[in-house]
Amino acid sequence: MNRQHSVFSGIQPTGELHIGNYLGAIANWVKLQDEYECTYCVVDLHAMTMPYEAATLRRNIENMLIDLLACGIDPARAILCVQSMVPEHTELTWIFSCVCSYGDLTRQTQFKDKVDQLEDTQGAFISAGLFTYPVLQAADILLYRADYVPVGKDQEQHLELSREIVRRFNFQFGEYFPEPQVLSTETPKVLSMADPTRKMSKSLGPKHYIGLFEDEKGVRSKVKSAVTDTGAGDLEKMSPGVENLFSLLRATGKVDTHNALMQEYKAGNRRYAPLKDAVADALVELTGGLRARRAEIAADPAAVWKLVGEMSARAREKANVTLREVRQRVGLPLR
Ligand code: TRP
Repeated sequence: MNRQHSVFSGIQPTGELHIGNYLGAIANWVKLQDEYECTYCVVDLHAMTMPYEAATLRRNIENMLIDLLACGIDPARAILCVQSMVPEHTELTWIFSCVCSYGDLTRQTQFKDKVDQLEDTQGAFISAGLFTYPVLQAADILLYRADYVPVGKDQEQHLELSREIVRRFNFQFGEYFPEPQVLSTETPKVLSMADPTRKMSKSLGPKHYIGLFEDEKGVRSKVKSAVTDTGAGDLEKMSPGVENLFSLLRATGKVDTHNALMQEYKAGNRRYAPLKDAVADALVELTGGLRARRAEIAADPAAVWKLVGEMSARAREKANVTLREVRQRVGLPLR
């Protein structure tokens, strides 16, 4: 146990999780609880930076909390909070926005990508919040003085900006914050079922992803129709669809089955029905277990909010230790 080091990560409440989110990220969050002091946060304020509806956001926050608890984020070992319930996130954001350079923000590729995406829609509105999004992210992480941040490749530039903010803050106001590092753990990259040249993503459409709480019928039909290859063509190189199926088997812990089927593949067997059956069984087992836990938790939303309220209060205590120190350093009066 490495309780001296702390981990922080955030997830946007964007609706239904899929097996790619779980196997690629959340399962790792669950594991990290044993090794580090972990804080996980449903970042509702970040979800406001793109056009959205209030009722949907409200529903998605609750659903994401329930999803994460069902996945095994454990209030006894980690903090699970809602970003907006810890108002210190926004206060530190303002202070950080004054040690973050405008030029650095203009160079963030995620901002540019989202602007492109919005400009394609009618009546595009680009919020200032979208522009300062990475400052809020830096505040999320540094409020808890986190050492490690488990995130995917797409967030590396944001992490680099967080470190730049830390360097400028420390230079101007004295060494205080650690420079947060990306914690990259070997996690499988789960590909789309219908187009395995792309990452599994909800935005591609329902045929492309398997929901984390999807029922048996849905899981089996999507695995059955997963794109593989025709068994012809280049037999030396495994096709992305087949690789995806093997990787799902390994990620769900079916190592023996994986190895046996891989041996057959290497011996020249290009019949994928047994592989698909094995993957479907493994995913039905996974989603079935998670669905049962989720139903139990979802039966009592008041209990979920009570728990999350308590955890957010704990988060605030930690946050206020940092903010007190920061206010003093930057020349603001103490409250
Ligand atoms: N930007 C992250 C994403 O889209 C979410 C996020 C917000 C985050 N704040 C964070 C991730 C702090 C890690 C740490 O995935």
